[in-house]
Amino acid sequence: MQRNPDVLIVGGGVIGCAIAYYLAKAGASVTLLEGGELAGQASGAAAGMLVPSLEEASSAPFRDLCRASQELYPSLVELLQEETGLDLQYRASGLLLVAQTEGRAEELRAVCRGGLELGGRLEWVEGGPLRGLEPALSDTVLGAAYSPAECHLNPGLLTQALARAAGHRGAVLRRGTAVVDFLTAGSRVSGVRTSDGERIAADRVVLAAGPWTRHLARRLGVDIATRPIRGQILAYRSTAVRHILWGEGGYLVPKAGGFLFAGATVEDVGFRPRTTRRGEASLRRTAAAMVPALRRAEVASAWAGLRPGSPDGQPMIGALPGKENVFIATGHFRNGVLLAPITGKIMARLILEGVEGSLERSEG
Ligand code: FAD
Ligand code: GLY
Repeated sequence: MQRNPDVLIVGGGVIGCAIAYYLAKAGASVTLLEGGELAGQASGAAAGMLVPSLEEASSAPFRDLCRASQELYPSLVELLQEETGLDLQYRASGLLLVAQTEGRAEELRAVCRGGLELGGRLEWVEGGPLRGLEPALSDTVLGAAYSPAECHLNPGLLTQALARAAGHRGAVLRRGTAVVDFLTAGSRVSGVRTSDGERIAADRVVLAAGPWTRHLARRLGVDIATRPIRGQILAYRSTAVRHILWGEGGYLVPKAGGFLFAGATVEDVGFRPRTTRRGEASLRRTAAAMVPALRRAEVASAWAGLRPGSPDGQPMIGALPGKENVFIATGHFRNGVLLAPITGKIMARLILEGVEGSLERSEG
């Protein structure tokens, strides 16, 4: 039987599981409680692009964080796949940031001239070379900024793999067990009370419950500004597209098994993770404007997830103010899959060593 865990993590999305993995790897005893299924919320709904959503990637520290996390991926994926036997469907499909208006074309040309780096350098392509790369693109596309090395994977499988690998290192992961309250002693939290009525003591507690982190923090008297931002997404049965296409109103991601994901809406509608006819229609319009052949493609399924939003689109990672032994990791908004490894690494160092850690680019 496990003794009281050094660290109790609330939330079994990609962030909670990444934290569990890096803590267990560092030798900590870890228990993770998930109210539903692992990756049952946004982490299973995501498109799995490992590309910073460009509209939020404005500040230099945020860009550095994204890059540091991207760089952890190749070795982390190799390690997790080897250890768990799961195929994470990691693909270096490359990325085309597609210009559909003159304004966007000018912006992207300037970005290419300025040498903005994502995984590699962006190069402006148009005409024959662009159609050679992506034959299915609409004639109305003016050009694109091209980055050949950008990757994506299956975020649900990544979450499962992180959980399994944490389990191999002694972490206990419990599904269907929600935290409903905290046991407190002054400014410390001594444990949690679960939906089963059980009390679990812990030395330190991490709140990684996506947009639900706000409800949990409130029970401790702290307001955390995360809110659910719905994303609807659909899967075509289509192999028409080779690259991640990031257009002006949405994106397309070619996935394993002959699927093509078309995402995503960005809606501030509270805790309502459901699809709507209007949402699906707008995704179809955006997709067909980039790739006309999709007008005739079959939609295999559609779903929605609740991104953990934050005031500036950037994550909130660190100690919970006013509490000695409580930490939070939420607000990853559109980049939680990309940022999971670096978040796990930073949190493990912060929790175990009390330091925020540098953005070292070492193995996963
Ligand atoms: P979640 O996945 O929401 O996990 C939190 C978990 O906490 C949930 O499983 C929940 O059940 C659990 N929980 C809540 N309350 C409790 C409680 N009281 N007790 C126990 N457990 C609790 N990001 C990218 O990097 N790339 C992408 O391509 C991408 N595409 C996306 C597309 C869509 C349509 C959406 C919706 C999101 C996308 N994202 C993407 C964003 C990414 O999915 C999120 O940032 C990320 O999944 C957040 O992970 P999380 O672990 O913080 O939250
Ligand atoms: N990062 C893609 C999305 O949030 O839709």
